[in-house]
Amino acid sequence: MKKNINIGIIGVGKISDLHIQGYKNMENVEVAGIADINQKTLKQKARFWEVEKTTLDYRDLLEDKKIDVIDILTPHNLHSKIFIEALKSGKHVSVQKPMAISDKECQAMIDESIKSDKKSRVFDNFLYYPPYIKAKDLIKDGVIGEIKSVRLKSILGYSTDRQSKVNNWRFNEKINGGGKVLFDYGYHIFSVAYDLMGDIVKISSFVENTEMSDGSFLDCPGIIMWNYENQNHGSWDIVRAHKIKINSDYFNEDEWFEITGTQGFIWINRCSGKILDGPPLIYFSKGEINEITFPKEELDWGNSFNIGMKNFVDSIREDFISKLSPTDGMKVFNYCKAARLSSDQQKPISLIK
Ligand SMILES: NC(=O)c1ccc[n+]([C@@H]2O[C@H](COP(=O)([O-])OP(=O)(O)OC[C@H]3O[C@@H](n4cnc5c(N)ncnc54)[C@H](O)[C@@H]3O)[C@@H](O)[C@H]2O)c1
Repeated sequence: MKKNINIGIIGVGKISDLHIQGYKNMENVEVAGIADINQKTLKQKARFWEVEKTTLDYRDLLEDKKIDVIDILTPHNLHSKIFIEALKSGKHVSVQKPMAISDKECQAMIDESIKSDKKSRVFDNFLYYPPYIKAKDLIKDGVIGEIKSVRLKSILGYSTDRQSKVNNWRFNEKINGGGKVLFDYGYHIFSVAYDLMGDIVKISSFVENTEMSDGSFLDCPGIIMWNYENQNHGSWDIVRAHKIKINSDYFNEDEWFEITGTQGFIWINRCSGKILDGPPLIYFSKGEINEITFPKEELDWGNSFNIGMKNFVDSIREDFISKLSPTDGMKVFNYCKAARLSSDQQKPISLIK
């Protein structure tokens, strides 16, 4: 029988539903407590998800001996502090992307994770999206030869009522840690860029700021290019197409990726949304085009959370490292920061120490 694992969640705002759903789908896993400073949110979520223990002070969960895992889903400026406290209290810890808001904070998280015998990771759901996982399997099987480049594309369209509007703190750099696009959303993109092809050594970017109707600024459109260690390269093209209605149940953005190898290429045609409502994965190999389809329920973007939650629980039960390790998380943090810096300073940024 599988060992019981009890989860404590800190911050039960918008994204928490997908995390709780993921845990609820698992055998012998229980969401044993939730914490939030907002009493109304706390009550609503406890009622909906039938969680008994609720608290306004997250430290109650850290002190609770019954809880094995802490999942941190708060605004970014709290990630590092809670992550360190949770590890010190003897819990396994998963923290939502982005890792933290400064390199000093990231380093302190790495240091604490090294001291601790508990598991810890930065969670990025893009790494658990089934078409992405399948693309990685194809690459591993040598279907496109030696991988040479990745091209990532983001379209930021307009929100519909169905899609959740992000909270204001996401536009406040003191809390968010950087720009809404390059740093916050960009953490997903650079997680993929790193997970696919390894260490980035140089980044060059050209990013504009767009004034929004409420007077705030969005750090896009932009184009970002980078080199890997072995002369391979990647790029990310971000377009604000605010008249495009994004076909997504979640957010007002969509992405598609192209990975080129010496013998072929792979297109991942969807992630957050489903604008390109065709085969989610297409690859060209040995002179032929192949299409891969998935069952509808597997393809839902929310499913990447189910797989991601399971991966962390499995990493505890089976003793492996769940992505992203804190060291990898800090690399991704540095790429997001370098992308901004390169545009501000109008020069390439070297990441070789
Ligand atoms: N694709 C994705 O994986 C994805 C999507 C959206 C958000 N996120 C990430 O998830 C995290 C949360 O984002 P969200 O959209 O749910 O934000 P949110 O604002 O909806 O929720 C954050 C919650 O944290 C609570 N909180 C604030 N301070 C707290 C404290 N001291 N103790 C306990 N709770 C506290 C707030 O009251 C709020 O309910 C962020 O790291 C964000 O970047 C990831």
